[in-house]
Amino acid sequence: MRIDIISAVPSLMESPFSHSIMQRAQDKGLLEIVLHDLRDYGLGKHKQIDDYQFGGGAGMVMMIEPIATIIEQLKAERNYDEIIYMTPDGKRLEQKQCNYLSLKQNLIILCGHYKGVDQRVRDLYITQEISIGDFVLSGGELAAAVLVDSIGRLLPGVLNDESSALFDSFQDDLLAPPVYTRPADYQGHKIPAILLSGHKKKIDDWRDEQAYLRTQKLRPDLLDES
Ligand code: ADE
Repeated sequence: MRIDIISAVPSLMESPFSHSIMQRAQDKGLLEIVLHDLRDYGLGKHKQIDDYQFGGGAGMVMMIEPIATIIEQLKAERNYDEIIYMTPDGKRLEQKQCNYLSLKQNLIILCGHYKGVDQRVRDLYITQEISIGDFVLSGGELAAAVLVDSIGRLLPGVLNDESSALFDSFQDDLLAPPVYTRPADYQGHKIPAILLSGHKKKIDDWRDEQAYLRTQKLRPDLLDES
C-alpha cells in the first residue's frame, strides 16, 4: 500500500512512522509513506498556501490552488482509491473504517490547518472526511499519523503474529479481554487460574466472557449498537 500525505508541516510526521511496527511495515515493503510539503506548491515568491476568508472572520483558510496542483499531479501518476481529508467535522474514525482502508492500494491524506481548507477542495477532490474524535487539534498531522498507524498495522505480514490484529478491541464490537504475563504471582496478586489450566477451549471461553463483561462495564454503548 502507498499513502501520500499532503501537509503544510510534513516534518511533524517524520517520527511516528520511523519506529517499531510502522518502520517494519516499510522495511518489508508492505507500506510506502510519501510526505509532500504543501509549501512546495505555494503561490508566488512567498509560496503562499493560505489567505483570509471571504466574508470576514478570524483565521486563515488553506487555498485551493496549491492543493489542487499536488493532487492533480499525484492523480496523473496513479489511481487513488480514496482522497481523505483529516478534519474535526469529519466522520468519527472507527475500526471498521480502518479495516476497509487497509484493503486499498493507494490513498492520499490531506491534513488541514488553520480554519481548514477552501470548501471547494472538499467538494472537488475529497472522497472521505475523517475525524479522530470530538476535539480540535492544531492541525491534521497527528490525526493523519493515528489513521496511518491504525491502517498500517492491519496490512497482512506487518504484525509478527498475523492473527493478533483480529483479536484487537473493537474488531467484533467487544473490548479485548485482560492479558497477563509472568510472574503468575506478583506479591500475592495471582493471575486467573484458568490461564494455567492448559485447556484451550476453556481459556477461549473465559476470554470471550471477560471481553463481554469488560465491554458491559466500560463501553455498554458498543453492546447497544450490535
Ligand atoms: N484536525 C484537527 N482536529 C482534528 C480531529 N479531531 N480529527 C481529525 N483531524 C483534525
